[in-house]
Amino acid sequence: MLEIKELNVITTDIGKEILKDFSLSIQEGEIHAIMGPNGTGKSTLSKVIFHHPAYQITKGKMTFEGVDITDKETDEIGRMGLFLCMQDPLVIEGVTTSDFLREALYEKTKERVDLYHFVKEIGTGVKKLSLDENVIHQALNQGLSGGEKKKSEILQMLLLKPKFIILDELDSGLDVDSLKEVCKIINEYLKENPKTAVLMITHYSRILEYIHPLFVHKMVDGKIVETGDFHLAHKIEMEGYQVVEKTLGEADE
Ligand SMILES: Nc1ncnc2c1ncn2[C@@H]1O[C@H](COP(=O)(O)OP(=O)(O)OP(=O)(O)O)[C@@H](O)[C@H]1O
Ligand SMILES: [Mg+2]
Repeated sequence: MLEIKELNVITTDIGKEILKDFSLSIQEGEIHAIMGPNGTGKSTLSKVIFHHPAYQITKGKMTFEGVDITDKETDEIGRMGLFLCMQDPLVIEGVTTSDFLREALYEKTKERVDLYHFVKEIGTGVKKLSLDENVIHQALNQGLSGGEKKKSEILQMLLLKPKFIILDELDSGLDVDSLKEVCKIINEYLKENPKTAVLMITHYSRILEYIHPLFVHKMVDGKIVETGDFHLAHKIEMEGYQVVEKTLGEADE
């Protein structure tokens, strides 16, 4: 479904190298997790998939369902069914959550949004996520706590019904009960839409106990250095990332 092949990425401003020969392949219905130390390029990867202007691809290629998306614009990528739940969701002043979602739905389908169904669906989502009803009439993410912003992202996911979901540190900001609830909602969505694939970025194995990954990838210094199953996540939590870095260092000597 998503194929990333030998991607090199630099920042547009100072040309800092972030992703180095990064490759990843995710098939329909698969759940993958990426774990890696701070600053290793995990969020950069999620933004590069969505063509963030702060980054430039200097080598490699990305395809989604066989279509080359390396040079596609963000709106086109969204329309193809990819969705990003950001590590730090953006505040958009002057645009209410409701207007934002209605416009996004229209842009995706190019069909008039049925107001009755839209109001019903957004109301159900707000209730499910235990968000304050007023959230939908406020500017997108404005004045929301860290956890509420993550819930607001999941509300968008529920309405936009993506085929491919990237969750960048969903667990940061959510309290223990909220994390469990939000993961339950995502699992329900995946059960109803079994072809949907998920890429989770996380530091801790707790979230992986709620949303079970088929593959866990360890990412160090801009590339994946080890792939395994759920047990790799526990190993990483016990040992940290140093082991791999040391091994690589020793191999160089
Ligand atoms: N636009 C940018 N301009 C300059 N440097 C950047 C830019 N974006 C990211 N970086 C740098 O690239 C590196 C990777 O950043 P990124 O946010 O992808 O890390 P991460 O793996 O998501 O880390 P964390 O676990 O802390 O979220 C960092 O050193 C960061 O400072
Ligand atoms: Mg990050």
